[in-house]
Amino acid sequence: MSEVKIIKDIKTIHNEIALLKKSGAITGFVPTMGFLHKGHTSLIEKSVKECDATVVSIFINPIQFGQAEDFNNYPRDTKRDYNIIRQTGAQYIFMPGESSMYGDNFKTTVSVKKLGKIMCGRYRPGHFDGVCTVVLKLFNIIGPDIAYFGQKDFQQLFIIKKMVEDLNININIKECPTVREEDGLAISSRNIYLSDIERENAPLLFKTLKAAAAMIKRKNTSIKKIKKTSLELLSGNCCIKSIDYFDFRNRSTLEEIKSLKNYFSREGRPGILIAAAIRMKSTRLIDNVVI
Ligand code: PAF
Repeated sequence: MSEVKIIKDIKTIHNEIALLKKSGAITGFVPTMGFLHKGHTSLIEKSVKECDATVVSIFINPIQFGQAEDFNNYPRDTKRDYNIIRQTGAQYIFMPGESSMYGDNFKTTVSVKKLGKIMCGRYRPGHFDGVCTVVLKLFNIIGPDIAYFGQKDFQQLFIIKKMVEDLNININIKECPTVREEDGLAISSRNIYLSDIERENAPLLFKTLKAAAAMIKRKNTSIKKIKKTSLELLSGNCCIKSIDYFDFRNRSTLEEIKSLKNYFSREGRPGILIAAAIRMKSTRLIDNVVI
């Protein structure tokens, strides 16, 4: 097991990584809000494999949570996170305090336009502005060559890639596959909120997404019908309180796909993203499949 340096000070991590880069080291970065799980470790391990040094940040970013959301109750266990990171071979943990990231005089945020207002953004106003603001700050503080994000948060990944392109940020964004439990449930820090019965029923989300993908591949039905069948399947479940969205979107633009007919006849058509968010009593789950 390698030694991990925990750094809380912004200048210290900045200077340390700048020095490493000067010596020619490739630096990988995995931003997290802690309470690490197999999804995070798969990103960290990929970075360790591909880069000379890996930085993992742990910061529960207050400005990406809405007022009625779970910022205060977001799961925290730094000791456990430290032990997990040690086993991956990453060299640095960056754990800034809230006041050093957002002092009293903090006045500037990133504003995500249309892409931040669809899908999850419709139900979590300002969420993606908060995500992009903290990710941009972390990018500037650490200055990595490569940053790793999971496909589970497809919209987040998409918006971050767009921010990197639009704001000319010189960092390579690597997207990594969603890690799942054996029964298909996408791994998330929030899964610990699920009661036993909710946990038992939660894999229905991925099953429904996969069934929708299979119907599309058969090409013998319409988006409208597939959506209706999918919504019926989900809303008929005892644990699902509501469905925020079940969307069919162009994987490369996030534009909504309304008709498969036009879609399949389009030259060089890109993949289809089917993404959904549902609410169980105790928690909100998101997942997606890409065809
Ligand atoms: O995906 C997350 O855990 C967070 O949104 C991120 C990217 C660490 C920013 O706070």
